[in-house]
Amino acid sequence: MLSTRIKMTAAADILIVDDEPVVCETLQGLLDFQGHRVTTCNSGAEALNHIRRKPFDLVFLDIRLPDLDGFQILAGIRKEAAGILVIMITGDATIETAVEALKSGAYGYLGKPIRIEELTKTVKNALDHRELDQARRQSEAALRDSEERFRALVENSLIGICIIQNNTIIYQNPEQKKLYRSFAGVSPETLIHFIHPDDVEKVTRCYHALTAGKQKSVETNFRIYPSGSEKKGSDVRWLQCRASLFQYRGTDAILINLMDITRAQELEHFLRVKSKMISLGRVAAGIAHEIRNPLTGINSYLFTLEDMLKAEELDAETVKLMKRIVDQVQGASNKIESVIKRVLDFSRPGLPAMSLLSMNRPMQEAINLSAVSLRKKGIDVDIDLDPDLPMSYGDPHLIEQVVLNLIDNAMKSIEKKNAEKRLTLRSYAENNNICLSVSDTGTGVPIGIREKIFDPFFTTETDGSGIGLAISLRIINDHRGAITVESNQSGGARFTIELPIEKRIQTQ
Ligand SMILES: Nc1ncnc2c1ncn2[C@@H]1O[C@H](COP(=O)(O)OP(=O)(O)OP(=O)(O)O)[C@@H](O)[C@H]1O
Ligand SMILES: [Mg+2]
Repeated sequence: MLSTRIKMTAAADILIVDDEPVVCETLQGLLDFQGHRVTTCNSGAEALNHIRRKPFDLVFLDIRLPDLDGFQILAGIRKEAAGILVIMITGDATIETAVEALKSGAYGYLGKPIRIEELTKTVKNALDHRELDQARRQSEAALRDSEERFRALVENSLIGICIIQNNTIIYQNPEQKKLYRSFAGVSPETLIHFIHPDDVEKVTRCYHALTAGKQKSVETNFRIYPSGSEKKGSDVRWLQCRASLFQYRGTDAILINLMDITRAQELEHFLRVKSKMISLGRVAAGIAHEIRNPLTGINSYLFTLEDMLKAEELDAETVKLMKRIVDQVQGASNKIESVIKRVLDFSRPGLPAMSLLSMNRPMQEAINLSAVSLRKKGIDVDIDLDPDLPMSYGDPHLIEQVVLNLIDNAMKSIEKKNAEKRLTLRSYAENNNICLSVSDTGTGVPIGIREKIFDPFFTTETDGSGIGLAISLRIINDHRGAITVESNQSGGARFTIELPIEKRIQTQ
């Protein structure tokens, strides 16, 4: 039994301190036999010297020594090497001394005479304890290390991180404080004062969706005034926010990640403005072009009239001619007025008068209205309208106007290309949308101008004003739909209008 125990205990460095040489020898013999490396000494001063020179695992320390009291040495050992386990030995074993020894930091207590069984058990327990203690210290150190690494990651993160628990902000990393100031310990509602008024509702909605458990995570962009509400408007920043529910220390919490996207937003805005300016330039050039032609005419007519008025007398023929010229001036001026009217119509269109209908109706109306022109031009028409097309809300007159514009463009394009003359009109439902398509065997829209054709006044036609598609796009946008162009198999153009199938309140 004893030999088994001996094998289980790893060899240790043990110091025996006792003024009785016989005790030292006996203990040394027993512990040597058990495989330990044993050092002995007879005084307190010697013991402290040994401890300073060598790391011991275990010390047997006599309470009564000639030079120093055992408790003094114990204090010295604890000071020199706190990890060493000390077992006190004494001849007059009383409860008081045992309690005092343990209170002073000794691991255990043995009374003389020391019995082998007791000694072996005490050594084994002490070494097991030490091993466990070391393992605990190591895992604590590893835990500390990994905690430190995570802390360093979170504290140095360029993303603002914040934790909300029980409606209180319980953690903010430095980046979060930089973005949003320090708010630890306050309720998230306090932050509302720093949010741009236009974004407050959106942020509150997201927060309540999380706290009510309706959503596990939310994502939104919003603006804040980092320096406080008193400076509203001065330094507004755009934040991208992602918040999700998670368990923090065993309780529900919200983890919020914030990123400053002000710069990206500024760049996006700049690009939008730039592209608008380019469109505006094209629009201005278009208007100038539309007005310049009739204006040139008006000027030359006026010169002619001026010349005519120089004559002393106006014969009937001249007066007739002058009347014709005045008519021409009138015509040119009407043209200018119509351009201005169309520009105004475009910039101030009326709202669509919505009603529930089948989009086949305006589609069919447009086809009927174009039938004569199509026949005259020798264009074959394929009509494929889905009889089960779901009903949807829209303004029939405006949709008809859009389809007419598309048919008109298709006819012009087909005429330009000396090939098969065919126009295909379809209606169908797809992905919760009503789709109306107008496809022709004309020239097609070159990829390079596809994004320009919807700009007002962009035209490649000599007699076109370039307003048809711009108005069509406007109308479809007002219906919350989309209009796209692509090439079809014949190389011609296919324009598709997509209108959402949704229950919408009638405005009519
Ligand atoms: N079906 C089509 N095939 C080829 N090109 C087209 C087609 N539809 C439109 N386009 C191109 O788009 C341009 C703009 O069309 P839009 O209807 O806006 O103006 P327009 O037809 O030129 O003039 P407007 O409609 O004002 O009389 C056209 O000039 C043409 O270059
Ligand atoms: Mg047109």
